[in-house]
Amino acid sequence: MGVTYYKRFRMELSLRGFARACVELPEGYELVPWHESLLEAHADVKCRSFAGEVDSQVFPCLGDAGGCLRLMREISNKPGFYPEATWLLMHRMPYVGRIDYCGTVQAIVTRERFGLSIGGIQNLGITPEHRGRGLGTRLLFQALSAMANSRVRRASLEVTTQNSRALELYQAIGFRRTKTVYKAVEVAYT
Ligand SMILES: CC(C)(COP(=O)(O)OP(=O)(O)OC[C@H]1O[C@@H](n2cnc3c(N)ncnc32)[C@H](O)[C@@H]1OP(=O)(O)O)[C@@H](O)C(=O)NCCC(=O)NCCS
Repeated sequence: MGVTYYKRFRMELSLRGFARACVELPEGYELVPWHESLLEAHADVKCRSFAGEVDSQVFPCLGDAGGCLRLMREISNKPGFYPEATWLLMHRMPYVGRIDYCGTVQAIVTRERFGLSIGGIQNLGITPEHRGRGLGTRLLFQALSAMANSRVRRASLEVTTQNSRALELYQAIGFRRTKTVYKAVEVAYT
């Protein structure tokens, strides 16, 4: 066994100005608010979004269906779980009408720093075939705006530095690095 260290940035963003932000989606896409009956759908989208991506090496549970289901149960049972900022993205195929869930985001709110609330974004994911259309940005905006509407002052998240697509997205929205951490992951040598 060996250990690989993944460099990760903790990033934060002031939510001032995000309240009442209106998210418009391309045709065929809809935002679906959290309901506990959607737990398995969130887990499934999470698995399809993270499989084969660098974060499934950093957090192996993200790489398989059972791990994603356990993680979703864990997140939704946490005391700070924030349903208002937890969303699924749905795609309706034109003419056929068949629907497919293609994006997920969740949030956990904690009290920090002089009693102010900070909202932690968890596992933003867009399935591969729907990427590059601004959906990840819009889904994150939706979660940030929901938190800002409930007077959460700041948002935070962690991103693996190798994940340049996610890092660029967060920087473009205005997230800034506040800390660098290293996540140790055990790897089996073959
Ligand atoms: C990260 C992720 C959510 C982005 O979703 P997306 O819908 O493709 O993102 P967007 O279309 O909103 O793109 C936002 C920005 O990301 C960056 N980006 C998008 N596609 C990119 C690509 N192919 N190459 C490099 N950067 C890219 C760009 O900065 C882009 O801004 P621009 O469109 O103004 O140039 C998606 O790639 C994903 O689910 N990845 C796997 C799971 C993951 O790693 N999640 C993040 C955990 S921290």
